[in-house]
Amino acid sequence: MSAGAAAELFRSAYGRDPDVVASAPGRVNLIGEHTDYNGGEVLPMAIDRRTWVALGREPGAVSRAVSREVGDAGSFTLATPQAAGAWWDYVHGALREVRTTVGDGGAWAVAVVSDVPAGAGLSSSAALEVATVLAAAHLTDPATPLAMPVVAQLAYRAEREFVGVPCGIMDQCASACATEGHALRIWCDSGRVAAVPFDRQVLVIDTAVPRSLRGSAFAERQAACVRALKTLQRHAPSLDVLAHASLAAIESLLDGEDRRRARHVVRESARVGEVVEALRTGQSLGPWLAASHASLRDDYACSSPELDWVVDAAVATPGVEGARLTGAGWGGCAIAIGEAEALEVLRARVMEDFPGRWGHPPRSWRTRASRGASIDA
Ligand code: GLA
Repeated sequence: MSAGAAAELFRSAYGRDPDVVASAPGRVNLIGEHTDYNGGEVLPMAIDRRTWVALGREPGAVSRAVSREVGDAGSFTLATPQAAGAWWDYVHGALREVRTTVGDGGAWAVAVVSDVPAGAGLSSSAALEVATVLAAAHLTDPATPLAMPVVAQLAYRAEREFVGVPCGIMDQCASACATEGHALRIWCDSGRVAAVPFDRQVLVIDTAVPRSLRGSAFAERQAACVRALKTLQRHAPSLDVLAHASLAAIESLLDGEDRRRARHVVRESARVGEVVEALRTGQSLGPWLAASHASLRDDYACSSPELDWVVDAAVATPGVEGARLTGAGWGGCAIAIGEAEALEVLRARVMEDFPGRWGHPPRSWRTRASRGASIDA
């Protein structure tokens, strides 16, 4: 898959060459889960699967979009402020953000090809938004390239405000700003980013569990975090974000669910710096991955029986450093980190045993830390 495939799709859909092709990758998060929307730290990396967006100008007011993977074409006008509930909402939202921030490029013709698995929790939507923003900003104002953190912000606003998904900044930031051979440390309170060398092998296992409950459970967790922050702020008005709360305050001022959710956020955010240090000194990441998974399972309650089973299988495999759920949870993917051969043993075992245990096949991909978004043609 390549920029050429996107250009080819563009030609067959619109009968002319595109003016630009940009691409952006999916991501997995190594550590720092459910911390981004609480002003904490995260450590995602881009995966070696991307979405390419070929773009050209379109006469009139109606923009058009076609996707090779979805096999469906749509049209929209940028003046319309509502999403249609279709895949091209991500494109529509991203183009609206570019129009507001960079300038009015008129209507667009868009062609999308992708090898980021959709619906797996690998941020296929962030990849689409980021590639669209980058391509459209490039054509609208070629003399003033947007900095990648700004590309990430526009893509994030498209997802949150136009599509209406209450996510944090991690996915769009990783897709836009990651660099090859590095994970990306993001301080979500300030938006600061730093590349962290990461050359370990990663196996992604998608439990392929339908994620229908994910949206509402995610919103419930966000509400619990907001509630916890408000309670803590009554005693410490200078507390800006939940990730900066002290564990002592959480234990003494909160109870029940809010206490468990807040405790996860603060501990998980702290684990990011610890993992960065462990990477610098060449230590196994196993203990931090195990602590993260246990905290997501027990305190944040966003794991699933299938994810727990995969993580147990991973840590029981000699040569696997560690494993945990990655992304939002409630189904979706786990990652395992370790030696290449051990990961292949694990992959074979999971592919064989999972269907008998859970009634459907999982999906899996080996990946490594890859480059972020780029203009490709
Ligand atoms: C989803 C969201 C991210 C982040 C993770 C959990 O992937 O899109 O912003 O909140 O869940 O860490």
